[in-house]
Amino acid sequence: MRSILDYRPELQDVINEVAEVTGYLWQKGWAERNGGNITVNITEFADDEMKAMPAIAPKMQIGKVLPQLKGTFFYAKGTGKRMRDLARHPMQNGAVIRICDDCASYEIIADEVVLPTSELPSHLSMQNYLLETGSKYKATLHTHPIELVAMSHNPKFLQEGVMTKTLWSMIPETLAFAPLGLGIVPYEVPGSIELANATLEQIKKYDVVMWEKHGVCAVGLDIMDAFDQVDVLNKAANIYMCAKNMGFEPEGMTDKAIKDIQDIFHLPKMRPC
Ligand code: 13P
Ligand code: ZN
Repeated sequence: MRSILDYRPELQDVINEVAEVTGYLWQKGWAERNGGNITVNITEFADDEMKAMPAIAPKMQIGKVLPQLKGTFFYAKGTGKRMRDLARHPMQNGAVIRICDDCASYEIIADEVVLPTSELPSHLSMQNYLLETGSKYKATLHTHPIELVAMSHNPKFLQEGVMTKTLWSMIPETLAFAPLGLGIVPYEVPGSIELANATLEQIKKYDVVMWEKHGVCAVGLDIMDAFDQVDVLNKAANIYMCAKNMGFEPEGMTDKAIKDIQDIFHLPKMRPC
């Protein structure tokens, strides 16, 4: 069977990277059953033939109007699909969708009729924002990292900035590679428009946001970049929990040590475009 990836080696590379990352998500224990989802904006690879490809399933509603997405193309993980299966067969566990001219609906164009993730409203809201702000970011990731989710069960960590400060202070690399910190989205029903809207507000300031008692959502230049940011933050959460398991409260780097790293490495306080 023909695939949309045939004769499009650059698009194939992007999908290979998605498959590589989904393998990591499974190995890390962050992707039980169908847990987590991904979208990647692949509009830059849409040649005339791809633009002319017919829908292979009836048009479906996003649930929001997203003006920046008119005519854009995304690879999206399928709802109910497993990350570990996607790692081996990305085009059977995800699909390419095109956003229709009404900016409120989409159609599946390839390879198979795999319905996109139930978290599509959140992913596409973030993608719309990224385009609106001229960002080079192309990928959005939602996953269930164990230690970060565990921390979100303590109300203390849900106050603005508290979790970020704790995580940054565990190891300098967290600060260096997740310089914007971690936003907090109070609990909302998975897949809901309310969750999408709350996520959108936080993603304006942060590259990674915590979905209370559920998981995280991250944006990045590509899917590896989004994954790396979650990985460094979860590593810090793991160090915090290891110290607690050894029976003590970790001291954490001092405020001065944190500020020194920010200054020496000229760490951004806002998302660079
Ligand atoms: P999907 O299988 O619909 O992508 O949902 C997984 C998930 O993690 C929902 O939050
Ligand atoms: Zn989830």
